[in-house]
Amino acid sequence: MQMMNEQTGIPFILNGRPVRSLSAPGTRLLEVLRDEFHLTGTKCGCKEGECGACSVLINGRLVTSCLIAVGSIAQQAVLTIEGYRETERFAVLDAAFADMAAVQCGFCTPGMVLATEALLSEHPHPSAEEIRQGLSGNLCRCTGYQALIQAVRTAAQRGAGLW
Ligand code: FES
Ligand code: FES
Repeated sequence: MQMMNEQTGIPFILNGRPVRSLSAPGTRLLEVLRDEFHLTGTKCGCKEGECGACSVLINGRLVTSCLIAVGSIAQQAVLTIEGYRETERFAVLDAAFADMAAVQCGFCTPGMVLATEALLSEHPHPSAEEIRQGLSGNLCRCTGYQALIQAVRTAAQRGAGLW
């Protein structure tokens, strides 16, 4: 007979660690991350898939966690900004965003950084159009997109070989 607590909850990998969510399967992944796992780097903006503030990577793919039910991600690997912060790639992005003044209030920044990770994984040397496309699902009210585009370009140059 298996122990109850070995079967309870929805199992997935969160920032490299196996976890189980005890939330109802229909609960938004955004809420599970923030309220159950206290990973508040994932921001809650529109809850409609329009702003990108809640972006995370699932199996390396950029998704808006407000539109994902936790019940649909069993056994999948979720990376939030807290997990990504531990990587060498994050250090490159962090410095580039700071140096290019691409962070003002910071609300959009976790989502922007993860969108950039997804972009550079696919296009290590992105064109201006690819950068615009890569960030198109993420809104920023503060910086003006030129600074963000320049930050991505700078990260791609400085991080040559990392992506
Ligand atoms: S909160 Fe998910 S896209 Fe805006
Ligand atoms: S830095 Fe404020 S929303 Fe982007």
